Amino acid sequence: MTTLTIRRPDDWHLHLRDGAMLQAVLPETARHFARAIIMPNLVPPVVTLDDAVAYRDRILAALPQGMTFEPLMTLYLTEGTDPTDVERAAASGLVKAVKLYPAGATTNSHSGVRDLTKVMAVLETMARIGLPLCTHGEVTDPEVDIFDREAVFIDTVLAPLRRRLPELRIVMEHITTEEGVAYAADGGENLAATITTHHMIINRNHILAGGIKPHYYCLPVAKREKHRLALRKAATSGSPRYFLGTDSAPHVDALKEHACGCAGCFTATNTLSLLAHVFEEEGALDRLEGFTSLHGPAFYRLPVNTATVALEKRAEPCVWPDKIVSGAGPVTVFQPGFPVHWHVLT
Ligand code: NCD
Ligand code: ZN
Repeated sequence: MTTLTIRRPDDWHLHLRDGAMLQAVLPETARHFARAIIMPNLVPPVVTLDDAVAYRDRILAALPQGMTFEPLMTLYLTEGTDPTDVERAAASGLVKAVKLYPAGATTNSHSGVRDLTKVMAVLETMARIGLPLCTHGEVTDPEVDIFDREAVFIDTVLAPLRRRLPELRIVMEHITTEEGVAYAADGGENLAATITTHHMIINRNHILAGGIKPHYYCLPVAKREKHRLALRKAATSGSPRYFLGTDSAPHVDALKEHACGCAGCFTATNTLSLLAHVFEEEGALDRLEGFTSLHGPAFYRLPVNTATVALEKRAEPCVWPDKIVSGAGPVTVFQPGFPVHWHVLT
């Protein structure tokens, strides 16, 4: 197969930031994607419906003329979140999920949740109205090894929460382990998982062997090879439990190449080509559309996109810019380390 036409994809986990960075990275997503679930971890975070409406307006104002893109907004769950505001947000139709960051788990998560019992009224409301909870699934206990934090979160936070509130619809965001794959597989209709492009391409050796590669560092951190293989198997399985959330997370180079470097891989520019490469390697090109364009809308109870996007496999490899220039500084584009021949026709 050398050409492939699929329904226009959606990104079910995306960081767009704000201001000059938003301006620079938004076109990279809007070029190929129709919609995206927009992460709320700004400083200060997007907590209320009013915050989300204002942020959505800034995103739409930053969209270049001639491009179409629908931001699907999320609220950042805090221990002060008001359940009635969440209910109003869902009713507005603009807010499609609430995001749980365990406090301290990742970039800009300090306003997140320390004690789940403090947000139980919000979660009960969400379960009642069917509004999904997107989880950053890592515990923050310093005693727990960073490579085990996802598996421990499943056992000690997610499983008890789901026993207590089985009606709550949950997305396990950016799963990185075979434990995450297995838990999502058995979770029934109220559970799904997003998988990033980069976690299907790199394992922890890519970050740490032969010199530290800050642009491959993200959270949850890439794990052993067996986990990467489990993620590829899940994504290409055709199961509706798994769909794309790139977690494309831009940081300027000065903060990535730093003594205490920020977590995040910027993949918006080349994600679709990389996914075609991965799915072809797995003999599953016919399942790419499900992963990028069908399973996500089904879980979020949204219509699928009617527009399409075409890809073509060419002899010459794709050439991407090394960096996106932003008013805040340069942002390095994720480089897979091998040639990719699937060009997106725009
Ligand atoms: C994200 C960011 O930079 O906002 N970083 C990352 O490594 N993925 C936060 C997140 O999703 O964990
Ligand atoms: Zn993220």
